[in-house]
Amino acid sequence: MKLFWSLLLICASLSFPVLANQYDVLLTQMQQVKTNPLALEKALKLGQERSMLCGYCHGKDGNSVKNYIPNLAQQNAEYLLKQFEMFSSGERKSYVMQQLSRSLSAAEKINLSLYYSSMQVAASEEISGSTIGHDKYQGFCFACHGEKGLGNKDLPRLAGQKKEFLVKTLTAFKEGKKSRSTSPMVKIMGAVKDSDIEPLADYIASMKADN
Ligand code: HEC
Ligand code: HEC
Repeated sequence: MKLFWSLLLICASLSFPVLANQYDVLLTQMQQVKTNPLALEKALKLGQERSMLCGYCHGKDGNSVKNYIPNLAQQNAEYLLKQFEMFSSGERKSYVMQQLSRSLSAAEKINLSLYYSSMQVAASEEISGSTIGHDKYQGFCFACHGEKGLGNKDLPRLAGQKKEFLVKTLTAFKEGKKSRSTSPMVKIMGAVKDSDIEPLADYIASMKADN
């Protein structure tokens, strides 16, 4: 029994470096696929086939069918790949996504990340934008997510994301909810007023989908 607990403790203390290593290994594999046109073509096709598992929630083309579920279309492949690892390890929590991520092979994670990042995010309707949101975003958030909201590698693209998902996610960060409590966004949202969340989400959702 004692041995079991010591092993458990060792595993727990190792979980961060292990996660980083797994992600790095997958990332290297994905870069290799990306630079090989034949391998890329095959990965996109297999990714599309596997995406049948996801379409019910995230939409066939990665434009999600429910407003509280994130679009995956045009999201940076590195960010998508990293989320699979975070769901698998439990660092990011979501019952469905943790189960699904754990059931995917390394190749499937790479194929799905490449496939969704190659799709086009659709312009969202019924979103008018917000000048308050614009000013807050361009005064602060742009530093990491970019002026156009495209992010970079494992910094997520935000442009064209669903408004309801954004409000839900930014509020969860601000409240330090355990679903994503290790995210750098928790500290960042400490500097953002509750009343700015809605305008920020309005602006981000309205950011041009075609860039
Ligand atoms: C039953 C619905 C459902 C299915 C099926 C599903 N997802 Fe999800 N997924 C969600 C929800 C809900 C979230 C948001 C979780 C949160 O709030 O953090 C999510 C989040 C994600 C994220 C994080 C995106 C981001 O912007 O942070 C990725 C990546 C993802 N899903 C990929 C997939 C893939 C790939 C599949 C198919 C293998 C899939 N999902 C199937 C519901 C689903
Ligand atoms: C210091 C860099 C940095 C700044 C500044 C920053 N972010 Fe982030 N943000 C990140 C990183 C890194 C992630 C991805 C990791 C995570 O949080 O899960 C992220 C994730 C997010 C997500 C989740 C995206 C998704 O698809 O799940 C949203 C929404 C977000 N940021 C919005 C904002 C807003 C709004 C601001 C300005 C108030 C902002 N960020 C400022 C680094 C930053």
